[in-house]
Amino acid sequence: MTSVQIKEPQGAAHARILGIGGYSPSRVIPNSEIVDNIDSSDEWIQTRSGIRERRWATPEETVQMMSVSAARKAIERSGLEPQQIDCVIASTVSHLLQTPSVATTIATELGCEQPAAFDISAACAGFCTALAMASDLVRGGSAKHVLVIGVERLSDLTDPFDRGTAFIFADGAGAAVVGPSDAPAIGPVVWGSDGAQADLIRQKEDWRDALLTGHLPAIVMDGNPVFRWASFEMAKVAHEALERAGITPDQLDVFVPHQANGRIVDALARSMKLPERVKVARDIEYLGNTSAASIPLALERMLEEGEAKSGDLALFIAFGAGLVYAAQVAVVP
Ligand SMILES: CC(C)(COP(=O)(O)OP(=O)(O)OC[C@H]1O[C@@H](n2cnc3c(N)ncnc32)[C@H](O)[C@@H]1OP(=O)(O)O)[C@@H](O)C(=O)NCCC(=O)NCCS
Repeated sequence: MTSVQIKEPQGAAHARILGIGGYSPSRVIPNSEIVDNIDSSDEWIQTRSGIRERRWATPEETVQMMSVSAARKAIERSGLEPQQIDCVIASTVSHLLQTPSVATTIATELGCEQPAAFDISAACAGFCTALAMASDLVRGGSAKHVLVIGVERLSDLTDPFDRGTAFIFADGAGAAVVGPSDAPAIGPVVWGSDGAQADLIRQKEDWRDALLTGHLPAIVMDGNPVFRWASFEMAKVAHEALERAGITPDQLDVFVPHQANGRIVDALARSMKLPERVKVARDIEYLGNTSAASIPLALERMLEEGEAKSGDLALFIAFGAGLVYAAQVAVVP
């Protein structure tokens, strides 16, 4: 090894979420607009999934447009200028261009000054995954203010005639800015993957085969095993995230699980044995499953409706195609 010493980055002692923002598309799609295509009913969808309606993007509400709208709010609420953002991470599985990444064009439209910018693919676990990376980047010194975006236009990749997915997936964007903090405010991430179960949620074909079918490659899901995995295995992950942060369930104020299914939210909340006063996000009723966008969108709604407030202790847990998962405790901005 060389005897020349190189300098290493020096990061902040701690990181926190400085601000969040969301964007929900303008088109409200009630269950009644979906049921005929899939021989279902409003009652079945509500009972089995907790979804009453969801938002699907109009042609103008692109991945870029929704991301920029959510990010502007998050940056403004952080009290920062776009020029202070030095890294942008966009998590998405429904941006239809594999290259260039959407993070670079989002950054430019926001007016950031040539930040590091890249996309990640971690499906519904995308927000918690990117949040963990952002926290480590700030504490490791590779960035000072990281913009994290979870954005999906899943309506593009949903087959409206598929009974297993047509009523679940939806569109939207959520964003958070992560920066230096005087005190610990983002706990250790508990994350992982299980590629042996990759077939449970996947695109039906790749882009080359999609050329032959003439359709975009829709996402298909074997819902029941995913449901069982999420309800049981994810409860253990949620507990571990609390333990690693040194927190007990009664010290929590807010529980924001990924909005995959209202019954999964209930099962997780039950198994956490959360005290009555802990508020649980139940955004799925109005927004469906927005994948990487669901946690920041749900948290924004809780803040707007007074269910959460700045300084509260929140537990985030997200999981999805891969299978992948990520969870952490964080202080609400
Ligand atoms: C999709 C999901 C709501 C289905 O609920 P479920 O309780 O598992 O339902 P099942 O697939 O076991 O089907 C139960 C019955 O409903 C029927 N059914 C399935 N889809 C239906 C639909 N859209 N409308 C009406 N009936 C339907 C089935 O045919 C079955 O009928 P049977 O009992 O006569 O055989 C549920 O599995 C789920 O939410 N899974 C996880 C979703 C998720 O988290 N996805 C993303 C991860 S990020």
